[in-house]
Amino acid sequence: MDYYGNYRHLIKDEWIEILLSTKGIEISPFQDNDDSKDKKEKNIDQTLANNSAEEDLFKNGPYDDNLIMAEIFDNRNCPFELDLGDLNKYLQGDWWIVKQAPGQFMPLHRDTTNVHDDNHRFWMPWKDYEAGHVFIHENKFITNYKCGDLYRYDKDNDLHGSVNIGLSHRIVLQISQKEIP
Ligand SMILES: [Fe+2]
Repeated sequence: MDYYGNYRHLIKDEWIEILLSTKGIEISPFQDNDDSKDKKEKNIDQTLANNSAEEDLFKNGPYDDNLIMAEIFDNRNCPFELDLGDLNKYLQGDWWIVKQAPGQFMPLHRDTTNVHDDNHRFWMPWKDYEAGHVFIHENKFITNYKCGDLYRYDKDNDLHGSVNIGLSHRIVLQISQKEIP
């Protein structure tokens, strides 16, 4: 990943407070579809559920499909207007905020929803690095970042995964966009 600078000044403290007190869309492994009705009732992301490649990734893995791996906020359910000033040019495509509670994890995977090889992909933590906030990108453990640091993936579908064995939530903004104006 390449470092693109720090934009802490664009992130409002109140956004983080709102995210911490609001429930997002729960993301779970999908090992089978037999109980998809239950999942719908639990407000689990149907976009992921309907994506066969991403589904297969977890379906073939050892993970229990009852686990909640993270909560997502995007333009369907974000509880505030995401205005990042100078960085709004990066918000014209897909973006989503991942909130991960202590104990939650996202197995190593490659994103498959709306992924294009030539998309620009960014990763921006909204909290300073804390011990126990584990993010793996292409076999590298990313540490010692600051809130608002902006990193760019090498490719939209780089291998990545995370686990929170810390004492507070992880919050990260992810961006995937074809054209940067
Ligand atoms: Fe991902």
